[in-house]
Amino acid sequence: MSESEAPRLKKISVANQKGGVGKTTSSVNLAACLAAANYKTLLVDLDPQGNATSGLGIDRYVSNTIYDVLIGKVELDEAIQDSYLPNLKVIPANQNLIGAEVELINAISREKKLKTALKKLTDDYRFVIFDCPPSLGLLTINAFTASDSLLIPLQCEYYALEGLGQLLNTYQIVKEDLNEDLQIEGILLTMYDARNKLTHEVEKEMHQHFPKDVLETKVPRNIKLSEAPSFGRPVVLYDIDSKGCHAYLDLASEILVRNHYPKPDWKEFISTQREAQREQAKPAQEENVSEAAAPTVQVSAEEIFVMSSEVVPEVSVEIEEVRIDEVKSEDAVLSEELSFSDEEMEPVQTPEVLIDEPTKVEEVAETAVVTDSVQHEQPQNLNV
Ligand SMILES: Nc1ncnc2c1ncn2[C@@H]1O[C@H](COP(=O)(O)OP(=O)(O)O)[C@@H](O)[C@H]1O
Ligand SMILES: [Mg+2]
Repeated sequence: MSESEAPRLKKISVANQKGGVGKTTSSVNLAACLAAANYKTLLVDLDPQGNATSGLGIDRYVSNTIYDVLIGKVELDEAIQDSYLPNLKVIPANQNLIGAEVELINAISREKKLKTALKKLTDDYRFVIFDCPPSLGLLTINAFTASDSLLIPLQCEYYALEGLGQLLNTYQIVKEDLNEDLQIEGILLTMYDARNKLTHEVEKEMHQHFPKDVLETKVPRNIKLSEAPSFGRPVVLYDIDSKGCHAYLDLASEILVRNHYPKPDWKEFISTQREAQREQAKPAQEENVSEAAAPTVQVSAEEIFVMSSEVVPEVSVEIEEVRIDEVKSEDAVLSEELSFSDEEMEPVQTPEVLIDEPTKVEEVAETAVVTDSVQHEQPQNLNV
């Protein structure tokens, strides 16, 4: 094996028609780790939910997305966005993409739209990762047609093997009709829990059926992997020392070695990141202190009752500290613990409102929309 055998450009579809098995987490973090190893990587979000896009801190509602590329409105390079890692670029997706399945239905070579668009990708890219949607529809077929291989994340649970047959069937059909070179890159066990007996049973069965395809790397269940997207970052830029991060560094190493690249030495990247993340953590700790000193909200006991009972019929509210500044109702009842059942609930006339006017529903809705689209700052190729 030598580096000269390594493919000039490797395109990998991360696919499984089941939702929630770790496709997006694996696409984002594998792409980020390949980029961290200095291989220029393009992550293409092919899921209308746009989770890979937002998970990398990119606005889903930018004007050019993969939808615009597929319908031929823009060229591929016009849709490429930067990420926080200099070697990682992203083509975003949003709900528009749902329309692509319908709009392309009568198009000539509709299964090859993505493959054709990718021909215009510039030379210096080494990897393209497609984050597939949870279906085996036209978008997934386009990804399979444009790819060299499939990476199949599999959650070690009771129904894990169910549906795998259907996925492999689609793989065979694409291989026969559209892309004879398509290979299986590997099956990746995700959310792996060594304490769970079922995990071992699924793992054993996978090794029996697909001895060559089950990857050595297993991704454990790790909270840092699920937290990182809400900060718009891959886990390498969020918690370099987490088990989840190490699993994806291992996965990138395994994929690189399988493709005749040298095994990367992560030491320098890890120590630079560790330093950067320590620095970033400092202001956050200071913020936490000021949050602890945030002003207290004044509410009356009746308000607690009204607010809580609207949410859950049977409610138990624990009050750590009660400070009464101005309660006008004489029979306001305050106790260490308030417990109400459904039957006891009666319309309550709030005697005195001591908190701000409740926010109007329309205002909440408006804020929600705005928040969604400005969730993160746009990455600007920070050299972190
Ligand atoms: N190894 C893991 N440990 C903990 N949470 C995970 C892990 N992998 C994925 N998740 C979480 O599980 C959910 C589904 O994962 P996701 O990658 O979005 O799956 P898919 O793309 O297949 O629907 C997400 O909330 C994600 O953060
Ligand atoms: Mg997904």
